[in-house]
This record gives sequence, structure tokens and C-alpha cells, in this order.
Amino acid sequence: MQGAEGRLSEAEARRQHARLSDEIRAANIAYHAEDAPEISDAAYDGLREELRQLEAAWPKLAEAGSALEEVGAIASSSFAKVTHAQPMLSLDNAFSDEDVTEFVARVRRFLSLGEDEDVTILAEPKIDGLAVSLRYQNGELVQGATRGDGRVGENITANLKTVSDIPQRLQGAPETLEVRGEVYMVRADFLALNARQAEAGEKQFANPRNSAAGSLRQLDVSITSSRPLRFFAYGWGEMTELPRETQSGVMTWLRDLGFKTTDSRLGDAGAALEFYHEVERQRADMAYDIDGVVYKLDRLDWQQRLGSVGRSPRWAIAHKFAAERAVTRLNAIDIQVGRTGKLTPVARLEPVTVGGVVVTNATLHNEDEIERLDVRVGDWVELQRAGDVIPQILAQVSDPDEHAALPKFEPHETCPVCDSLAVREPGEVDRRCTGGLTCPAQRVERLKHFVQRRAVDIDGLGEQSIRLFFERSWLEGPADIFRLKDRAEEIAALEGWGEQSTANLMTSVETSRTVPLSRVLFGLGIRHIGEITARDLARAYPDWPTFSSLLQRLVDLRESFEPAVGEAEEKAKKRLNEALAAEISVSGIGPEVAAALVDFWAEGHNRSAVGELMDLMDVQTEAFKTIASSVSGKTIVFTGKLEAVSRDEAKAQAERLGAKVAGSVSSRTDILVAGPGAGSKLKKAESLGIETMDEAGWLRIVAQGQG
Ligand code: IVH
Repeated sequence: MQGAEGRLSEAEARRQHARLSDEIRAANIAYHAEDAPEISDAAYDGLREELRQLEAAWPKLAEAGSALEEVGAIASSSFAKVTHAQPMLSLDNAFSDEDVTEFVARVRRFLSLGEDEDVTILAEPKIDGLAVSLRYQNGELVQGATRGDGRVGENITANLKTVSDIPQRLQGAPETLEVRGEVYMVRADFLALNARQAEAGEKQFANPRNSAAGSLRQLDVSITSSRPLRFFAYGWGEMTELPRETQSGVMTWLRDLGFKTTDSRLGDAGAALEFYHEVERQRADMAYDIDGVVYKLDRLDWQQRLGSVGRSPRWAIAHKFAAERAVTRLNAIDIQVGRTGKLTPVARLEPVTVGGVVVTNATLHNEDEIERLDVRVGDWVELQRAGDVIPQILAQVSDPDEHAALPKFEPHETCPVCDSLAVREPGEVDRRCTGGLTCPAQRVERLKHFVQRRAVDIDGLGEQSIRLFFERSWLEGPADIFRLKDRAEEIAALEGWGEQSTANLMTSVETSRTVPLSRVLFGLGIRHIGEITARDLARAYPDWPTFSSLLQRLVDLRESFEPAVGEAEEKAKKRLNEALAAEISVSGIGPEVAAALVDFWAEGHNRSAVGELMDLMDVQTEAFKTIASSVSGKTIVFTGKLEAVSRDEAKAQAERLGAKVAGSVSSRTDILVAGPGAGSKLKKAESLGIETMDEAGWLRIVAQGQG
């Protein structure tokens, strides 16, 4: 750390401030908006601490708001962690009326609704605050938590108890009741708070949401209690007894229990859209900030059937308002090299405030995007920022003559880090460094990815340490992490390390030796294998021997694959990848993922790196919470026409009951569910002596599983 701030000139301090703020904001976006954290918790905490010290020495720098106070701040280690009894989901977004119509059509398809069946929707404003969960036991508020990553949040019970909209005791509540909603600040209160802060020489908040978030996450509860925080309930988590059969019914019941709820509208899709447009017109006059309208299916039995995909329910969607825009100067286009070698151009901007947040970077995605926008360094550009989404450049808006005089952006022929050739394959939009594991940027990015909390979670091994160890060749690949203990003395001798931090690192490495398969799979950083896909795979192939034999089968399948006579290359490739996906037979896992897995496993150096890792680690068999049922662990194939449920719903039902769904019948199939019109699959199943049943039989199993 920089230490005695007095040594810095103001210009240096400003530069450092900008750099740290950028890094923190980028980490927030990666973590919250993209669900793809890029730095470890420790590195993140380190950055925050550095920024805190800098702002303490140079208060002026924080006058326009500080990245430390912005939402999306990642759970700091100061609050105790709380695992949510039921995950706190987030919402998919719709940006147009058409997206909403498509949402309703999707719901109808999933539920196989007839044309005469009405879909009733509850529409309510999307409040721009901070999600919290309030747990009541026998009517008493016993715990309050932030959303965190949806599974684990922070325990902020004491802080939430100071919010006057939050009842501490309820009359007539079920034994366990988790109320979920948004903590927010009214605009007028926010302005008054900022005025008070200014008078007292304290820092200013950028907007009501940041101000609510900053006020709530205070270790000193007396600060929280002095802030004008409010609460709207919009849903619930665990609840021992459901008091009503509809979303709107439960919301009314919550209001009767003493919770504040927003205005809402109950009706068909047309009424929901009308509500959206009304709210959009009134938005500026409302007392608090909202960033869209949320639509929820009213019938709770339908919500239950629809369930969720990834982190979002299928039964709700957020219809966002148009993003805010601003114009600023493009100062530079830098190239970032990602974990998989992808070169991403990043726009460095003259700082500008958009929607209450200072923006200094924007992604330019790829060179086609730069060409399409025809942006050049020195241009004036218009950008927009919607919610937590990374700011986006919409267009260059320079004077045409000035624009014409600027040099065009030239794609990089080589990797800016390792100088290897950077190539763009035909049909791909991205340019990639071909250095692979010889490229330091890729290796460091992969290590960062591997150690992050949601992967193997090595506390105390942040970006800086990774770079430091990497430069000394102590850490070249993930397996080396588990050999760091051989370097303990050398590490302890490094500046800023010492015995204690080295011992701490060794302990966390030791702890992380034991992790479930899905997190290692995610940590390997294979293309297209995100956290959710890794979990889906591990659910079906729960231990390493089973998973690695799948990988080997895939590689064999690809090697023995032969294109049909006269078949075009593209077509053959597509057919191959589809066959690979069918071999994996996990719903939601398609040809792209299958191809990425084979590409990875076909590389000898990947196999040996993973082999080493498996020798050094104690990878745990995945234990997933599914409902125990007569079909748990079985492989089911659906064929023919299903009438009461759609194919997607049947698959979701099977997965909820712990079964695996396959696309084709083989000796590994346990049950075939055959509707009318079933043909060759039914014949094959019969010839293999596989249990078969009709849709009614299947629905009886589902009903038992839920009972
Ligand atoms: S429902 C399972 N309703 O928006 C559904 N969320 O983008 C969970 N939010 O994390 C959310 N107003 O913090 C819901 N009326 C509303 C909301 C709302 C604001 C926030 C909430 C959530 C985020 C998702």
C-alpha cells in the first residue's frame, strides 16, 4: 500500500483515486451485474482499503461520491454471513413491449395453457433500492439479511431493526415467515441527508440508492438509525403456511400484517403494459426512484410449476425503463486479454455522470462493434447506462470534420501482453491471443478465476499475490497453489508478507483443498462453463471419475465421427456437436458447451494439468438438494406428445425429483415416458426391456414426489 499519503502529489492522488475507483466499480459490475467475479474477495477488500485510506488523506477526492458507497458493493468481511433458507432470486429483464408479450407466450407454452385460459399478472413498480430478507419466527423479527450473491448474504439484523417501516413483531403470522423487499430512500430525504452531510463536512452520496445502501451497511448501527430508510415488501421466502393462493392475495395479507407495499395493478398482459406506461409517465414525479415495472404471474400454483432457471424465476420479469444517456470524450481504447485469450477493447472515457454514477470505462465488445460505431480515439461519444449493466457506447457524435481527421482504430495483429499472434477465426466476432498457456495474461486470469470465491475460494490469494508469485515462477498453474507450502519460507521473506500472513495463506490453501466438483469445474475456466452450467453438469456426473469418463467418451466420439459423403464442413460440425450434447444429455446443455468440453479435454496439457490438480486436491462428490423420489438418480426419456405438461415442464419436474433427462433411448435409460404418437424410441425401449409409462403414470410420480 502507498502509505504516507503526504508523499503523493495531488495529481498522483487523483490518478490513484481514479484507478482504484475504476477497479472497484469494474469488480462490482463483474460480480453483481455479470455474475462473473473477476477478482478474489481478498483482492477486492484490499482495493477498498487502499481507496479508503486515500480518501481519508484526500477528502476532496470523494466529494463527488465515492466508489466505496456505491451499491453493488460486494459483501465485506465485516458482517457475519447468512445462508438464505431459500435463494434470493433476481429477475430477467424485458426492454420492450414485445419482450413482455414473449414472456407471456413463454409462460403459456411452458404450462401448456389452452387458448381459453387467462393469464393474470400482478404489475408493480421496481424500486431502486437494496434487496433484504426479514425472517420472523413466531411473529418475532429474528434475522435480517442482504441479498449478497443470492445464496449467502450478510447479517444486518441490528441495522434493519432501526428501519421504522419494518415491523419487529407480527400478529397472526405463521411460525416461520421470511418477508422480502426493498430498502430505499425517498428522494427528498436523500437531498436533505446530503445537505446535512455537506454542512458537517461529510461525504456526499451520488443517488438515493447508494445512499440507502451505504446507510444500511454500517457497522455502527447508530449511523443507520439516523438515516431516513424505508422498506417496501414485494415477496417472501420461506413460509411455513401459505395463507393465500395468489401473489396479489399474499401481498394484501402482508399489508394487513403491517408491511408497506407499493401500488400495483392486477389484470391481463394488456393491463400490465398499460400500468408500465402510466408509471413511466409519472416516474419523475414519484417520491422515490424506480427503474422499471415487475410483472409476476398471480397464480401461485403456476409459479410453483414454472420454477426457476439459473437465478431467475420463470414466472416473473422486470420491464426496465430506458437507460440514461450522456456525452463525453473517448480518451483511449485499451485492449484487455481475458482468461480464454479473448481480446476485449475497452473505452477509456473522460469521467462523466450518467444516472448518478461516474463512468470512466465502457466496453466496446469487439472490433466489429468499433467499426460499426466508427469510434476513434478523440471522438465525442454518447453512452448509456441502465441499472447495473456495464455502460455502453451508442454512437460517436463528433463534428464530422474533426472526426474525419482522427486515425481509425486498427485491430491488434498480436497480443498486447505476450506478442503471440492474435487471430480472428472465420465466423467468430472475437479476436483471440493464440499464446494459450504461454500468455502471462491468460495464465494470470485463469489463476484469478480459479481462486475466486465462487470457484475454489482461496482466501488471501488476491490478484497482487498471484502476479507476484507468477513472476517468480512459483505459481504457474492451479496445481502449484497446492504446492505453495514448499515456498512458505520464501513467501514469508517477501516484502509485506511475514510469518503470519504466510501462515494464513497456507491455512486457506489447505481448507480449499476440499471442494465440491462443481466449483472445481467452474474454476477450470473452460469456455462456456459458467457457474450454473458447472452445477448442472455436476448434478448429472457428481464425482470426478464419472465426469472424466464422460469427457473421455466425448473425445472418443469426436475422434470416431465421420462426416457423411458430400456433407459440408459446417453441417458436419453442427451434427457432431449435437451428437456430443446428446451424449451429455443434461437439459440446458447444448452443442456449444459440449464442443467446449471436448476442445478442453482433447488438449494434452489440459489433461495433465487437471490430473495434477486432482492428485493434489480432495474433490468432493456433489451433494445436491433434490426431492427424494422413486426416480432419483434415474435416467428418463420423454417421447411422443405430452398433453398436460409441456416437454420443458416435464424435464424440469424430472430434474426437481433428482432424475436425469436424456434425449435418446440407450441401455443407460431407466424409464421411457411415452405419449401418443411415440414411435421408434418406444420400440427400442421395449426391446431393451426398459420400464415404460404414459403421461398419467408420470404425473402420478410427480404428485408423489411433491406430497
Ligand atoms: S421480485 C423472485 N419485485 O429487483 C423475484 N423485485 O432485479 C425476486 N426489486 O433483487 C424479486 N422491486 O431487489 C421484485 N417489486 C419488486 C421489486 C424487486 C425491486 C429488486 C429486487 C431484486 C431485483 C431484481
